[in-house]
Amino acid sequence: MTIVAKAGSDPAMTPRRRMIRAVMSLVITLVGVIALGLLAPVAAIAWIKVLHVLAVISWMAGLLYLPRLFVYHSQVAPGSETSETFKVMERKLLEYIINPAMIVTWIAGLWLAWQVYRFQGGWLHGKIALVLLLSGVHGFFAGAVRRFGDDRNTRGHGFWRIMNEVPTAIMVLVVILVIVKPF
Ligand code: HEM
Repeated sequence: MTIVAKAGSDPAMTPRRRMIRAVMSLVITLVGVIALGLLAPVAAIAWIKVLHVLAVISWMAGLLYLPRLFVYHSQVAPGSETSETFKVMERKLLEYIINPAMIVTWIAGLWLAWQVYRFQGGWLHGKIALVLLLSGVHGFFAGAVRRFGDDRNTRGHGFWRIMNEVPTAIMVLVVILVIVKPF
């Protein structure tokens, strides 16, 4: 029962708190990236790449796990205690890990794309297109977290099992593009 109460009354759910958290991660990353670029331009590339890869790992970990939670969540009765537990898990995963990690991935990735490649290269254009697609999948999952949160999910576990594979497929293509750079 404790979990049920938390799902409905956690102050972290307010849109204002959510906005503050998103703006804070944006500002901290931007300030860090700009400061590093000014203080140590050569070392900055390696350090921003470290930041980029760490953020990518966090983003992908969340995008791979969230639809797996949807698979289980879609099989339990709306309003049950288990369903309320899934709501908390999904919302916290999205707000604490997936959203900030996506922001940091984009900022550090675009910084690298400009500083190192001046946005030139077929592989880079292909990669950015795929990451835009991945960001769309992220948006779709964020909508699903809201719908599950309001007990409005209408899709079955089969659908979520298929969606579970989409971020994996995009990730494989992105990593091939950035490391092999085939064109
Ligand atoms: C958000 C848009 C993104 C942009 C603009 C971007 C851009 C870049 C750039 C320019 C590099 C440096 C590549 C090099 O110097 O060889 C890089 C490194 C890397 N990126 Fe991204 N990236 C983005 C998102 C992602 C995503 C979503 C993934 C994985 C799913 C990813 C995986 C990697 C990896 C593994 C490296 C290290 C490659 C290496 O050092 O050999 N990136 N990224």
